Amino acid sequence: MSKQRVLSGIQTTGNLHLGNYLGAIRNWVEIQSQYDNFFFFADLHAITVPYDPKTLADNTYNLAALYLACGIDLQYSTIFVQSHVTAHSELTWLLNCITPLNWLERMIQFKEKAIKQGENVSVGLLDYPVLMAADILLYDADKVPVGEDQKQHLELTRDIAVRVNDKFGKKKEPVLKIPEPLIRPEGARVMSLTDGTKKMSKSDPSEMSRISLLDPPEEIKKKIKRCKTDPIKGLVFDDPERPECHNLLSLYQILANKTKQEVATECQDMGWGQFKPLLTEVTVESLKPIQDKYQEIMDNKDYLNSVLKEGVAKAEEVANTTLSRVKDALGYLPRL
Ligand code: AMP
Ligand code: TRP
Repeated sequence: MSKQRVLSGIQTTGNLHLGNYLGAIRNWVEIQSQYDNFFFFADLHAITVPYDPKTLADNTYNLAALYLACGIDLQYSTIFVQSHVTAHSELTWLLNCITPLNWLERMIQFKEKAIKQGENVSVGLLDYPVLMAADILLYDADKVPVGEDQKQHLELTRDIAVRVNDKFGKKKEPVLKIPEPLIRPEGARVMSLTDGTKKMSKSDPSEMSRISLLDPPEEIKKKIKRCKTDPIKGLVFDDPERPECHNLLSLYQILANKTKQEVATECQDMGWGQFKPLLTEVTVESLKPIQDKYQEIMDNKDYLNSVLKEGVAKAEEVANTTLSRVKDALGYLPRL
């Protein structure tokens, strides 16, 4: 039996942080050998908010190097640039005309991002989840590993696929495959270092709120030293009054590769002064191999270019086949 297909992506905006790593990439790496995987750099999504054209290409390169540095293995996984496969934009248009506007107006991420931008909200920001649906549906993905914040977008993707199948499919031959989200509870929602009730995010104006995968050890030490805590001694999980405490213990648990019970016992009598150096040490140690590998890859642009070139060829083959199938189902005159 052939392997099931996995697909996921990350926007090419800014540096990756621990939330992206623990909520997404680390899980991709863990499961990749069991699946046929496509992982891409979402540079079309990156321009749905104001951006600087001078850094767009570099951000894509950096993200590609980071995927590889985090352990994406080309034996199992294809990596590629979203904008290089034009089928993504084309399928988005077709799905746009099938998706009711009010489905998009309900999206939490749109509402949150739109508030921040006032008058400048683009049509692209509203349409972001349809592009994401196109990304997924083009590859007939069985599973989509993401963090908790993307769950609503995946539900929308499923709704769009069902609608296309209902309107344009034949009984036994659905046009599109219905994908399943893959959300691991651990690390699915890494919270900000400055506010344990907000998720760690690339768009938070404060650098102190997140640990970037490329932060040098001194920077990590400084951020953990200054991060928000509480004046209570004895550290515990799951106390709704102590969101920061829960978040920091969870980070420690994942990065130190321990069980929740082990960490609960280890930290039950600790104060922050004792805990913070421990967290700093496991964070620095977990990121060091990634940072070393990243540098090695960035020093070899020819290699990176060849990986991206190979990736786009494989991706395009799958994506174009699906696009033709959809256009055919929608009734288009085939290209002559
Ligand atoms: P983004 O940075 O929004 O492109 O997100 C890329 C991936 O990281 C997606 O799978 C997100 O669900 C995941 N992600 C982003 N922020 C967090 C967070 N704070 N905790 C866990 N996962 C996250
Ligand atoms: N919207 C996702 C995020 O911000 C990134 C993304 C774009 C994605 N297209 C995707 C994730 C397709 C999974 C599948 O996290």
